[in-house]
Amino acid sequence: MTQIDRVHVPLGERAYDVVIGQGLLAQAGALIGPLLQRKQTAILTETRVGALHLAALEQGLAAEGIAAQSHALPPGEATKGWQGLTEAVEWLLDAKVERRDIVVALGGGVIGDLAGFAAAILRRGVRFVQVPTSLLAQVDSSVGGKTGINTRHGKNLVGAFHQPSLVLADIDLLDSLPVRDFLAGYGEVVKYGLLGDAAFFDWLERNGPAMARGDKGARHYAVRRSVEMKAGIVARDETEQGERALLNLGHTFCHALEAATGYSDRLLHGEGVAIGCALAYELSARMGLCAQETPGRVRAHLRAMGMTTDLADIPGDLPGAEALIGLMGQDKKVQDGRLRFILARDIGAAFVCDDVPSETLLAVLNDALAARG
Ligand code: GLY
Repeated sequence: MTQIDRVHVPLGERAYDVVIGQGLLAQAGALIGPLLQRKQTAILTETRVGALHLAALEQGLAAEGIAAQSHALPPGEATKGWQGLTEAVEWLLDAKVERRDIVVALGGGVIGDLAGFAAAILRRGVRFVQVPTSLLAQVDSSVGGKTGINTRHGKNLVGAFHQPSLVLADIDLLDSLPVRDFLAGYGEVVKYGLLGDAAFFDWLERNGPAMARGDKGARHYAVRRSVEMKAGIVARDETEQGERALLNLGHTFCHALEAATGYSDRLLHGEGVAIGCALAYELSARMGLCAQETPGRVRAHLRAMGMTTDLADIPGDLPGAEALIGLMGQDKKVQDGRLRFILARDIGAAFVCDDVPSETLLAVLNDALAARG
């Protein structure tokens, strides 16, 4: 029997557990069953993930006599829009999902955010369970209740806080991830070390390569530590009035880069987070907030992992520094028209900064763009 951990997210009547371990799909019926009022559920997934994991989930549910209907949306970020939301909600209504039923989201961040938002608005809110299949979804998007869709104005601009009732993070599912997707998710793992746990960053420097090679013990520990950190932050600041903003380390840069690359597979979200973290440390060093050698240490780890690290790692053209700053202006983190950055005094010591000098930001971006050659 392999290890199973439960990380509790203590949110009063919205509290729930994140279960982390191997072989959880086979136990899905036993784990989800206690939440059900009647022995049936509706699963939203996407076609690629569905082909890999849906049958195992359905079998795990059937083992406890739970019937499941399922619907697979197209894979990719484009699904997370108005059209995908309409499709998901209309299907849930066709499937006669009732107010006290549970919707199951089987997939990565796109499906988790979309299905969570569909559940939030269906019949004014039904409960949902996250079964995240990507590293990014296991360590970040499935936990904390941020749900939503993208619009032509930008990413995640329409949505709701709707906490899941349970999260099943099955480490075995990471085996089927393409290397690129695994490393993109690893960008979010590194983020936790950088924002608040220097010892975890040290651990990642030593164990990240084994994790990437498939070491299950290392993957389990990294997912658990990331989820523990996220659970703590979400419990203290569920709706991002303060501390939760630290989870956006690297994201102001990332969202501008994602917009500049058309939300295409030129740059995956986690890749943008990794580059964004490196730029946030560079900006922190230029502002004299952290030691000059700290950005080099961050970049060295990203490089050692074979991750996107610099703007030079993004294929194709990028706009100039001023245009990138313009794209940051659409970010949800803009307050009173001021850009908000998460900066750092050291590894593991991030904080919110609303007064970054525009000439320093411009210089950091101009230098990073110039290094593209
Ligand atoms: N992904 C950032 C957050 O959940 O707040």
